[in-house]
Amino acid sequence: MNSHTAEHLFHGALADEYHFLQRICPAAAEMSQRVGEYVEHLPPRPDGCALELLELGCGTGITTRHLLNSRDDLRIVSVDNAPAMLAQARVNLAEALANGRLELRESDALSALETLADDSMEVVASAYTLHNFLSGYRTRVLAEILRVLKPGGLFVNGDRYAIDEPAAHLQHTQEEVRGYFRVFLEMQRPDLLEQWVVHLFSDESEEHLMRLHPALEEMVALGFAEIRVNFRNGVNALVSGRKPWR
Ligand SMILES: C[S@@+](CC[C@H](N)C(=O)[O-])C[C@H]1O[C@@H](n2cnc3c(N)ncnc32)[C@H](O)[C@@H]1O
Repeated sequence: MNSHTAEHLFHGALADEYHFLQRICPAAAEMSQRVGEYVEHLPPRPDGCALELLELGCGTGITTRHLLNSRDDLRIVSVDNAPAMLAQARVNLAEALANGRLELRESDALSALETLADDSMEVVASAYTLHNFLSGYRTRVLAEILRVLKPGGLFVNGDRYAIDEPAAHLQHTQEEVRGYFRVFLEMQRPDLLEQWVVHLFSDESEEHLMRLHPALEEMVALGFAEIRVNFRNGVNALVSGRKPWR
């Protein structure tokens, strides 16, 4: 496996019935709302034009909807590399697509970033996407985020950041997997149980795991400024960083 490539992890029942995530991880829906609230409080552009926002890994559009609802002066380009997730986003976000506030692109995050000009985005936002990346690919994505942000622009990421202390993280993961069994066996859906457990193994593997403090240190090393953990609950964290002013 090349740690610099994009993977395709969301297909089959996992993608088609992605809404069941709410049952096994209620914190995800809350985090999507927090990403929207974060963007809501950013200052408007002095010239009165819409803020340009790039969303990485829009999935079915749960976080995108919070972003769209957060303020009117926002133009969003959302990318995802899973056709089955984008197909749902097109339905869920039909109004914003029709009125031009939103564009959806089928692309992996790094390729999408590489098409964008330097200093072209006010905001790059994401939720529960970067933790899916192989670590080498994630580093390249973060470097590209910094390149495409305007000076002073913001990166906000509500995501699964592993607990730094391995024993505590393991305990948390074991609780999580017990929850998967409870929910999916009660629903008599062993197929979904299998898919989510397999997915969790990917999240937890050495080449994917995104531990909080190493992730923050990597942002420092890449050149992000004003790095903050705005919220932390278990493995869930809302992290932000700014591109320095010149
Ligand atoms: C856990 S879902 C989160 C979806 C959405 N952000 C939300 O808040 O509900 C992760 C999404 O990231 C997408 N994804 C994973 N790797 C990607 C990549 N390299 N480039 C673009 N999208 C990717 C997946 O297809 C999936 O839709």
